[in-house]
Amino acid sequence: MEQYIIKGGKPLVGEVTIGGAKNAALGVIAAAIMTNEPVRIQNLPDISDVDILLKGIEALGAVVERPTVHEARLIGGSITTCIAGYDDLRKIRGSYYLCGAMLGKYKRAEVPLPGGCNIGSRPIDQHIKGFEALGAKVVIQHGMIIAEAEKLEGAHIYFDCSSVGATINVMMAASMASGQTVLENAAKEPHVVEVANFLNSMGANIKGAGTDIIRISGVSSLHGSTYSIIPDQIEAGTFMLAAAATKGDVLIKNVIPKHLEAVTAKLVEIGVEVEEFDDAVRVVASKRLVHTNIKTLPYPGFPTDMQQVMATLLCVAEGTSIVTETIYENRFMYVDELARMGACMRVVEGNSAVIEGVEKLTGAIVRALDLRCGAALVVAGLMADGYTTVEHIEYVERGYEKLVHKMCELGAAIEKVDSEDTKAIQKFKLRVG
Ligand code: EPZ
Repeated sequence: MEQYIIKGGKPLVGEVTIGGAKNAALGVIAAAIMTNEPVRIQNLPDISDVDILLKGIEALGAVVERPTVHEARLIGGSITTCIAGYDDLRKIRGSYYLCGAMLGKYKRAEVPLPGGCNIGSRPIDQHIKGFEALGAKVVIQHGMIIAEAEKLEGAHIYFDCSSVGATINVMMAASMASGQTVLENAAKEPHVVEVANFLNSMGANIKGAGTDIIRISGVSSLHGSTYSIIPDQIEAGTFMLAAAATKGDVLIKNVIPKHLEAVTAKLVEIGVEVEEFDDAVRVVASKRLVHTNIKTLPYPGFPTDMQQVMATLLCVAEGTSIVTETIYENRFMYVDELARMGACMRVVEGNSAVIEGVEKLTGAIVRALDLRCGAALVVAGLMADGYTTVEHIEYVERGYEKLVHKMCELGAAIEKVDSEDTKAIQKFKLRVG
């Protein structure tokens, strides 16, 4: 089994370039099949979630070419079925975007219920509510979401909660419904805006994405487009926090600083210097960090996907910090893993955790339980005393392109090794001392 081995204590210094946003790429790739014409998507992240979704689309009959790992050319015109049968689709969350895309274009879709990180129940009731409001009949059978409609008619839909997935999925279906659709209490994340912009570049008529009211005038067909994915604000935030955790000095390039505001504000609050440029941020930390409180909220609040990494940082900050997770009901599973490294963090009342800052973490063998938990454990290992082994790194590699390479470029002592390869592990330990 592949794992990361890390020797902590080295400050991250230098420059790192951020890749395309995973959660935007998955929505854009699904939307790309809504036209029969060629679509070129650039700046894709080279991660397994993207590969799985593209393979799922190819299995529908679409032409999928990969001129490079960061680019895809799709032609949805050759799709021969609306049944997304590619087995691996059930492993990723973004597979459910094929539902909105195919329902919008073909008025029929059969897609596996989505997988994704085990951080809560993650129902899809708001997706179904939106599809049904547009006139579709939706049933769940044999682990599949089956949606079909004679025709889709615009509707006024009020989401019961701010849902990125439901907003994107229903927006896609509504973009090819007849008439006007209004989505109220819509999610405002950058990747919602990205999918709306992409659909508009294909001839859709979507206004208000990025606010909580999105207005869509349905169109009968969409045309081809060439589109480049925005930088991944979660990858960027992860490197910002890693720089702070290791008391480093890192220039993080190819970012949209506005998308990082909540993370930047919290880093400044705990004593980190953050300098913003047009498309980069520089993070410098030298002294011991101080405590703060974190409450995750829908965008533009503090992002839930940064909660685990931020909490890890606070484990070595001076004083007591409180972390409240309002988006998912089970996103504290990593606390037990951090405890193996000497962190003093305890979950109270289900969605809050109290952290008593300690001087140092110590290296240990820990397990990535989900994507961002894995990222948090890597950051913990980078700042801990001694060696840390992170197991089940397949979760991490779903969402971070070349994480080890990028960290090594910044001076980290980290390597991906096979758990059976004792020679490689010894060699690493000899090399890093
Ligand atoms: C997307 O998940 C992201 N995943 C998540 O990132 C991210 O944490 C989340 O948005 C919030 O920003 C992808 O884009 C692939 P939601 P999604 O629908 O769409 C509840 C990562 O680490 N809800 O906004 O599934 C739901 O249970 C991943 O990159 C309903 O109740 O998130 C959750 O508590 C993790 N009913 C909350 O809303 C619904 O029909 C937010 O879910 C839909 C959602």
